[in-house]
Amino acid sequence: MIGVFDSGVGGLSVLKSLRAQLPAEKFVYLADSGFAPYGERGDAFVIERTRAIVRQLRDEHAIKALVIACNTATAAAIHLVRTEHPDLPLIGVEPALKPAVALSKTGRIGVMATRGTVASAKLRALHDSLKGQAEFILQPCDGLADAIQNHDVARISALCREYTQAIGPFGVQAGQVDTLVLGCTHYAFAWDTLQKVVGTDVRLIETGEPVARQARRLLEAAGQLRQGGTPGHITLLTTGRQEALNAAAQRWLGLTL
Ligand code: DGL
Repeated sequence: MIGVFDSGVGGLSVLKSLRAQLPAEKFVYLADSGFAPYGERGDAFVIERTRAIVRQLRDEHAIKALVIACNTATAAAIHLVRTEHPDLPLIGVEPALKPAVALSKTGRIGVMATRGTVASAKLRALHDSLKGQAEFILQPCDGLADAIQNHDVARISALCREYTQAIGPFGVQAGQVDTLVLGCTHYAFAWDTLQKVVGTDVRLIETGEPVARQARRLLEAAGQLRQGGTPGHITLLTTGRQEALNAAAQRWLGLTL
């Protein structure tokens, strides 16, 4: 199986693309909902949770590869996982700043992410590497992942409004933000709300598809890609409420459970 994990339901947005790219693979998805959200908790906490989850997925499910479907955990811990598990093919996610530069015409790009991701050395390095190519407005979005996690529609809408207002004005005229990067896997599930708030001219970017393509490349290179045969199945695990995860998977992935 391929292991996929996130602090909660956000990584399901990545799992959706993984299933499309790798239909014959089996997945074990772990939502660490009992310990979510990660974004406002600090690196030490996220590192400890990531280590425990990788151990569990290896020991109990013998995963052949791991997708860290969480920007916050990738930023805080992927370098450690790489060092501690050098034999494990590993894929992380990071906010899509580079693709945004290629798409933006006004050169003003909004980035919504958790506080942890915004403060991370990894995002700072990525940001620095693109200096002069565009102007980025980095917005920490406290509470938004939690609202999505709890499917709290009113709060999602209020927070999307508040944070996009802090980034904008949006539009395709000079000086306006024409591209919005969703730098947290949870935010993909607020896509429609965000698109409505910023207007249909503004491009939204999430990372599920490029991450899935990268996973495919990595498995192919390692001679580990499962092709043909019976369609793969998905195992859903959580440290939180199983019914909540199942409902989210049904809602967003159309899974019949
Ligand atoms: N989904 C996560 C991310 O991509 C983390 C959200 C959270 O737990 O704060 O950053």
